[in-house]
Amino acid sequence: MTVMTTDAPRPRRWDAVVRITHWSIVAAVLVNAVFTEEGSSTHVWVGYALAAILAARLIWGLIGPAEARFSAFPPSPRAAIAHIREIVAGEKRLHSSHNPLGALMVYAIWSCLLVIIATGIAMAGLPGVPRETRSTPAPAAATGGSYAEARETEEREEGKGEEGEEGPLGEIHELAANLLYVLIALHLAGVVFETRRSGRQVVTAMLPGHR
Ligand code: HEM
Ligand code: HEM
Repeated sequence: MTVMTTDAPRPRRWDAVVRITHWSIVAAVLVNAVFTEEGSSTHVWVGYALAAILAARLIWGLIGPAEARFSAFPPSPRAAIAHIREIVAGEKRLHSSHNPLGALMVYAIWSCLLVIIATGIAMAGLPGVPRETRSTPAPAAATGGSYAEARETEEREEGKGEEGEEGPLGEIHELAANLLYVLIALHLAGVVFETRRSGRQVVTAMLPGHR
């Protein structure tokens, strides 16, 4: 059950782990989506950092304070529908954790990130263990070069051009990244909507400051 409170709106803050992991995830996604070269070693290292941050947040979902735990915001389509009915009826119920619609969004974003991370690692290998795509490792990978360089070399050897096939992992990685951008847009719309509707400072709760 989602924990609910009928208290009047009061300022609140997410705990430090939720806030730090949130903004670090935002930074990593932004950097990899906009600034790093796809498949470059920077892209992959930012990816490993993202994996570690997400892992920390997921562990926090089991051992953190009540509002940060998965049990405080279970993925429940039924609760989400009830929440939409409340919105339509103009009712306001305050939630001490993510509201039921927000909860679905959070799990969707996390799932998307997990797919991106899993396919990314499947392509690039674990830190320090570059994936061997051939019986003889590609030269750039062997000399510590980026995955992109290694793949380019492979493609040149195979006579493929710039538009060489990405393979299913690359396709899934890219598809999940594009889906993530859509979810982020909806997430931001949800934050704006909920701020107006609830009269609570939703964003402030994610910003630095005391609880
Ligand atoms: C949210 C974070 C990320 C975003 C937005 C992102 C986005 C992208 C995009 C758009 C591509 C081009 C896809 C293609 O044309 O095949 C790409 C390629 C790649 N990414 Fe990511 N990525 C992210 C995280 C990661 C992670 C966590 C890893 C691994 C640890 C990773 C490793 C790679 C590799 C190896 C490629 C090259 C794929 C290829 O050559 O086909 N990425 N990424
Ligand atoms: C790359 C972009 C973003 C991603 C991937 C993202 C992802 C997430 C995730 C996973 C959560 C759940 C937090 C947790 O329980 O650990 C969350 C919550 C939240 N995010 Fe974002 N976020 C992004 C951008 C933003 C931005 C730009 C803002 C501010 C304008 C923002 C404001 C919030 C707020 C206020 C919450 C808490 C919502 C609530 O009260 O239930 N997010 N976000």
